[in-house]
Amino acid sequence: MIELLPSILSADFAHLADEVQAAENGGGTVIHVDVMDGHFVPNITLGPPVVKSLRKVTHLPLDCHLMIENPDEFIPAFADAGANWVSVHYEACRHLHRSLELIAHHGMQPGVVINPATPVEAIIPILGIVHHVLVMSVNPGFGGQSFIPYSLKKIRQLKELRQELGLSYRIEVDGGVAHDTVGLVVEAGAELLVAGSAVYGAGNPKRDARELLRLAQAAAEQVA
Ligand code: DX5
Ligand code: ZN
Repeated sequence: MIELLPSILSADFAHLADEVQAAENGGGTVIHVDVMDGHFVPNITLGPPVVKSLRKVTHLPLDCHLMIENPDEFIPAFADAGANWVSVHYEACRHLHRSLELIAHHGMQPGVVINPATPVEAIIPILGIVHHVLVMSVNPGFGGQSFIPYSLKKIRQLKELRQELGLSYRIEVDGGVAHDTVGLVVEAGAELLVAGSAVYGAGNPKRDARELLRLAQAAAEQVA
């Protein structure tokens, strides 16, 4: 099932409740929350206190994308704050399997993220224990970057592997997903579509979320 995950990184942080509501009205079904620590990525955003506030203003699942070093230290705090899905970077985890189990142990859905330079092969051993695999289609850290076309190959590979291995993880894509690329990622096999600037960049998140979703669903019908 195709779902749109508005990324609040590109929203107006002074009006987060309204921004989340607008994207929800436009058809967004999961809220993507980018957590950055200034170490793993060259930017700083937000942490558990903001997740706790978001929890009060939406019933949608909160998908927390942790772009941080030592994520294990913070997983309990995200659980307490009300996060539903938590993904950790392959590149940031010394003991990836342990981090994923810790997320599940705290009652959240575990996801693994791979950077553009990381091959899908690196995460094959843990595919059986994740709820979602997030393919970064830009280098993490900032919104509004250009989509890296090589990511399509990785999405296709993950779809094939899921079939081959008899697994059920969902395939998420993040970075540069916009009106001109959303059809390509859906055709390749992505079903959880993160979009920041394409939803919030033009100041009309309800309209732009709706349009993006319409394009994604049209592409999904072509594939089916
Ligand atoms: C980037 C973040 C993304 C970001 C995407 O590091 O992980 O979620 O919000 O922004 P766009 O959709 O503008 O590329
Ligand atoms: Zn993200």
